[in-house]
Amino acid sequence: MPELAEIAFAEHAARLGPLIESALDAMSHWGEGCPALLSEAMRYSLLAPGKRVRPLLALMAAEACGGSFEAALPAAVAVEMVHAYSLIHDDLPAMDNDDLRRGRPTCHVAFGEATAILAGDGLLAAAFEVLAARLMPPEAGWAGCAVLAQAAGPCRLVGGQADDLDPARTTDLQTLQSIHQRKTGALIRAALRLGALSAVSGPMSPAFWRAAAQLGSPTPLSIDDHSDEGRPAIAADPDERTKTEPAVFTEAEHRYLAHLAALDQYGARLGLAFQIADDLLDVRGRPETAGKRLGKDSAAGKLTYPSLLGTEAAERMARQLIDQAVEALAPLPGPTHGLESLARYVIERNR
Ligand code: IPE
Ligand code: IPE
Ligand code: MG
Ligand code: MG
Ligand code: MG
Repeated sequence: MPELAEIAFAEHAARLGPLIESALDAMSHWGEGCPALLSEAMRYSLLAPGKRVRPLLALMAAEACGGSFEAALPAAVAVEMVHAYSLIHDDLPAMDNDDLRRGRPTCHVAFGEATAILAGDGLLAAAFEVLAARLMPPEAGWAGCAVLAQAAGPCRLVGGQADDLDPARTTDLQTLQSIHQRKTGALIRAALRLGALSAVSGPMSPAFWRAAAQLGSPTPLSIDDHSDEGRPAIAADPDERTKTEPAVFTEAEHRYLAHLAALDQYGARLGLAFQIADDLLDVRGRPETAGKRLGKDSAAGKLTYPSLLGTEAAERMARQLIDQAVEALAPLPGPTHGLESLARYVIERNR
């Protein structure tokens, strides 16, 4: 029997899925100069049946900020391109050495290692072209490129992946939270911000765009109280530029930056919970639904929430984060039921 959260999420995914799939297809026809095999490998990985969580987040964030799905599609495609690249490289023999992804042979198994590395490189670069050329208004395009570069870069996704693979890293909870926030959380936060940027209308000042272009550091989240009671209030992000330059902004800009901050509070918690759920899936998922090999983290000596806390405490922590994430949506002006159902689905998912 599917859980309620799964049903609610499935409704949103069915509503937005066709839009996302046709945009991914339309924006991945590479022009002259792209070898046929490379193009095939890039599209093989990009168009494979993923859950499309990041594109959905971009579209739902736009909706929650009063924007349109159409305008948010370049944001949705760009984040999925970066995600697909990160999966291709994550699966390589030198990294997690996986042969199954999204129910199919991994890119390097299907096309060879060199082509897979290049397909990842190609998708990463293509994501920025999509944002720069298609995300409107043009300022949202450059701010979006800055946000995506931060999320994908050496202090976030790539840095998190490096520490994930480093056998010499420390093995405490703080290190683990930092790895998960960087390798997985940052792109999820970026997806939300990119979607929200597509919803900005009216002239905004350069100071506004500079603030909007800053993803902010992944600050430690206060979730060390694992009990259901005494859930700590959501702490303000000290890096949020909106709090440090109040005088510069108009009323409308302030309001808009507050929406970005709310989405970031949601995204930081969702991102961490998403990777905890992925760790749990590796321990107790079912191979017939997961679409990837399971039981590999402990064999590879990975630092994960179940390995550090046990599965029950890890699950409790993920649930607590999701409750906090949903609370953070309150200030948003548009519909947030999509973001709420996606958050609930993340901890119930079986793939
Ligand atoms: C898998 O991401 C890698 C992680 C960051 C945990 P997803 O679980 O979103 O994978 P797809 O896109 O549905 O294949
Ligand atoms: C992957 O984490 C994170 C990124 C791809 C950035 P995992 O290595 O746990 O993801 P899976 O389990 O292979 O999907
Ligand atoms: Mg990995
Ligand atoms: Mg992996
Ligand atoms: Mg995993």
